[in-house]
Amino acid sequence: MTSAVSESSKTARLVLEDKELELPVVVGSEGEVGIDISSLRSQTGAITLDEAYVNTGSTRSAITFLNGEDGVLRYRGYPIETLAEHCDFLETAYLLIYGELPTSDQAASFREDIRHHTMLHEDMKSFYNGFPRDAHPMGILSSVVGALSTFYQDSMDVHDPDQVEVSIHRLIAKLPTIAAYSHKKSIGQPFVYPKNSLSYCENFLHMMFSTPAGDYEADPDFVEALNLLLIVHADHEQNCSTSTVRMVGSSNANLFASISAGIGALWGPLHGGANEACVNMLEQITRDNGNVQKYVDMAKDKQNNFRLMGFGHRVYKNRDPRATIIKTSCDKLLQKLDLKDPLFEVAQKLEETALRDSYFVERKLYPNVDFYSGVIYRALGIPVQMFTVLFAIGRLPGWIAHWKEMHADGSRINRPRQIYTGPTRRDFVPVDQR
Ligand code: SDX
Repeated sequence: MTSAVSESSKTARLVLEDKELELPVVVGSEGEVGIDISSLRSQTGAITLDEAYVNTGSTRSAITFLNGEDGVLRYRGYPIETLAEHCDFLETAYLLIYGELPTSDQAASFREDIRHHTMLHEDMKSFYNGFPRDAHPMGILSSVVGALSTFYQDSMDVHDPDQVEVSIHRLIAKLPTIAAYSHKKSIGQPFVYPKNSLSYCENFLHMMFSTPAGDYEADPDFVEALNLLLIVHADHEQNCSTSTVRMVGSSNANLFASISAGIGALWGPLHGGANEACVNMLEQITRDNGNVQKYVDMAKDKQNNFRLMGFGHRVYKNRDPRATIIKTSCDKLLQKLDLKDPLFEVAQKLEETALRDSYFVERKLYPNVDFYSGVIYRALGIPVQMFTVLFAIGRLPGWIAHWKEMHADGSRINRPRQIYTGPTRRDFVPVDQR
């Protein structure tokens, strides 16, 4: 079993009509308490009902711990602040996937494994001719990642560790290439091949901004900021897209198909798509003379389905520690570049205004990971439609780690139950009598 959980002596008692049940209680390594209901239906015929899984744990996991009340986030026990300060993205990816920070030899070998797979099969380039010029890069990313399974049929066995390992290397190596190619396609420039003398983040910026007419020299501050952004996006326990990867993977679907499904879930504006939606919202407010109060009032108005994008969170009822890290990095980068981005001013003003308003305070709504990230991406020259693609590149190691953990735990196919509320049995009515 994944995590050492203390077998609690405590039990939970459930009374349902004439039945009384003692249910085991599971206590996690951070003291979280879960009631194990795996015997509930067989003993009572009843199931639980928890719309959107607000109160439901889907698994035990040893990868990421977050405490929403205290604003704590740790990858394999290491605080996100420490990793953001001392690691780069590939070291963090190694930690999430293999459970320990790499030694220098392990890190060097992992980097070499990734470098070895950065290019796409030349036949994959023709896919891009099939997409419309204005195709959203998330649609391209999920399509091309799913198609990797058709090119790498030698690594589809989810139970073969070597095949899983090479698929992991291929995915981590190729996502930046697939992403950069989608950007080049959108601006009518030729694809730029990866250059393996560069680091992971340098290589991505090279593929995004170099042209045959001239190489792009990545500013070290940009590389540092991109590493930090990818690190803080790398995992977040059982969020929507990670749960999707686990769900799809639980059918023994290959890793490429599982990750492609996760990309689709991340695209939604309530999830990873919020970073793109947030910048669009900040631009709208900026065009509206920075009138943040108007948008705060709109967000509070139940007649209006407008929401402050980048605000609020299912788990964090305190500051999202990632937002704090990103905001600091934002400030530092803009100062270093002597850049005045009006969106950053508006974002700070919006945060101050909302956090003075009882509507947000009572509901414990704070800026989340998506609130400030777009300002940094803009400073790096990343187009808005690529923001969620960057989120996917960052989240990939987390998706992989959870997919591996699920298989290591020998988990069964995920198949939730339901409470049926439709018509009871009724007789067929011939069409001439309807
Ligand atoms: C990510 O799960 C993860 O870990 C996700 C993520 C990760 O790393 O994987 O952290 C990444 O997805 C971050 C969230 C990005 N999404 C957004 O920024 C979109 C805007 N935020 C909201 O839509 C909302 O806050 C959610 C989707 C993030 C959370 O939704 P919940 O938990 O279902 O909360 P809810 O909709 O039930 O809101 C509770 C109350 C409601 O009001 P009441 O019915 O109590 O009167 O808060 C209100 C909501 O109307 N509310 C907001 C709001 N967010 C919640 N009101 C205005 N603006 C907002 N942004």
